[in-house]
Amino acid sequence: QFIGLDLGTSGLKGVLVDETQAVLAEATAPLAVSRPHEGWSEQNPTDWLAAAESVMDALARHGLSDVRGIGLSGQMHGATLLDAADEVLRPSILWNDTRAHAEAAALDADPRFRALTGNIVFPGFTAPKLAWVARHEPKLFERVAKVLLPKDYLRLWLTGEHVAEMSDAAGTSWLDTGRRDWSDDLLSATNLSRAHMPRLVEGSEVSGRLRPALAARWGLGEGVVVAGGGGDNAASGIGAGVVKAGEAFVSLGTSGVLFAAAEGYAPAPETAVHTFCHALPDAWHQMGVILAATDALNWYARLVGTDAAELTGGLGRLRAPGRTLFLPYLGGERTPLNDAGIRGAFLGLEHETDREAGTRAVLDGVAFALRDCRDALAATGTRIDRLIALGGGSRSETWLSAIATALDVPVDVPAAGDFGAAFGAARLAIMAATGAGAEIATPPPIARRIAPDADLTTAYDDAHARYRAAARAIGSF
Ligand code: XUL
Repeated sequence: QFIGLDLGTSGLKGVLVDETQAVLAEATAPLAVSRPHEGWSEQNPTDWLAAAESVMDALARHGLSDVRGIGLSGQMHGATLLDAADEVLRPSILWNDTRAHAEAAALDADPRFRALTGNIVFPGFTAPKLAWVARHEPKLFERVAKVLLPKDYLRLWLTGEHVAEMSDAAGTSWLDTGRRDWSDDLLSATNLSRAHMPRLVEGSEVSGRLRPALAARWGLGEGVVVAGGGGDNAASGIGAGVVKAGEAFVSLGTSGVLFAAAEGYAPAPETAVHTFCHALPDAWHQMGVILAATDALNWYARLVGTDAAELTGGLGRLRAPGRTLFLPYLGGERTPLNDAGIRGAFLGLEHETDREAGTRAVLDGVAFALRDCRDALAATGTRIDRLIALGGGSRSETWLSAIATALDVPVDVPAAGDFGAAFGAARLAIMAATGAGAEIATPPPIARRIAPDADLTTAYDDAHARYRAAARAIGSF
């Protein structure tokens, strides 16, 4: 048996699978985000460990003595700073934290960053956050001995080792993404060196072994391997079988992601598309990332005093977008805008605008933002012929229908079960423990296909044009 752990933004999820990849048990523990200042987004790494303990305790009730491997997945980019004794120096600065926008722009202006990493230095990536800490918390910066990504901090606790893997490391702005190695030049541009970085492995390789004390606590045997794993998007790609060029998924989580497996390493940073290593050797992927997908719907649900499930539950069929437009830039945007300062908006409000019209506008607004990601991917030559739907938001058929129609591409809904990041992490554990490879990362069985609604395509095209115009107009607001 094998375990996959996914350290998400809103919660940590664990799955236990057998050799045939059948899911035997699942457990989750919630996590909260703290936003102490405008543009900030932090979590306390000790909360991650508490969540992992509670998930492992729950899985342990099923008996874990047959477990041979554990795979890790996690929210990307978070800067987790440790001193020489591995003590956490400050709350982790998360992927959707944009405080380092000035430092990001300064690093991005150094041509070596785009040339070596293949990406814009976005404010949410790790290197600019360290530049921010050096400027604003210099005493603390001097004590930084290691910089770990969130799931790699979990790994340190599980195995006692500092190890990262390629897919997550590609989101730091310190990795030479084509060569799959840290860049000494880029590290020194932020006054750091290779000594501050964890050792690198591939996602499907062994990164270490579970500490005996933890194995004993949860009833696992000796020598359980911990796989490299993946950033949550690459791990989702492994879970959903998106490993070869031509395959793609849309993920509606806290962030929204349009992810395509790539032929090779072909970066196009000027499009604001992310080009990262995949979680398998010699493989890369591209993705467009929006900062608020379910985060936008949950924000609106709180505003109107209910929850997201209640809002989307009664919507029924997709309708032509009305006058009301929603722009989901609640905390700035990555693809395609790279704008930490832009903020969200409702436009075209009328006397008739009610809670349902607002809900539909929010779902459509996220769909339009994902259409912009699709256009950015298309500018790099990446075509998407079908999308597999992943993430909590994909429970809303109306939302998927809006995405299918706005992007004019069919959206396939996997049959019951979760084929996302935790499942992908479990697959990476199988690979690390048994030597299996990409052949076990098969696509999930599809329960149904949501086709674009041809009657509404023109209305969605028109509304998207208004959305683009609105985004340009509010950009400087
Ligand atoms: C990807 C990104 C988000 C997080 C969410 O670049 O920032 O998708 O990985 O967990």
